[in-house]
Amino acid sequence: MERKLAELAKEAAKSAYVPYSHFQVGAVLVAGSGKVYQGCNVENASYGLSNCAERTALFKAVSEGETSFSAVYIYGETLEPISPCGACRQVLSEFCTDETPVYLLSKDLEAMETTILELLPYHFKKTDLNTNV
Ligand code: THU
Repeated sequence: MERKLAELAKEAAKSAYVPYSHFQVGAVLVAGSGKVYQGCNVENASYGLSNCAERTALFKAVSEGETSFSAVYIYGETLEPISPCGACRQVLSEFCTDETPVYLLSKDLEAMETTILELLPYHFKKTDLNTNV
């Protein structure tokens, strides 16, 4: 784990728009280009339209032309390292390998290292689609 990237995930959480849950989350993705992308959760009065920090960072990066990531950092104001939601696990898996390291961080930057495959075994993959893409 790189301490600087963990700190960037914590910094990203400060931009969270969370008037409903008051629960700030920050994410950092290290992209294939070497660039680092930060994201935070963005909530909405129509609660179901809220976007998690991980997907904010990922959509930012992909919209800038990134198609792969070599490391993921997720920070939550939690006592124990945060556990990302199932939707984000699936979305991250699209652009990561099974072995991509994922660092789950607590509010004190205590880290738990895991991988995409450990977080979502047997996840749905583009190769499961019966197409040539
Ligand atoms: N949230 C994230 O941003 N990432 C996670 O991994 C878990 C949950 C957000 C969604 C919502 O804005 C708030 O945390 C409470 O669920």
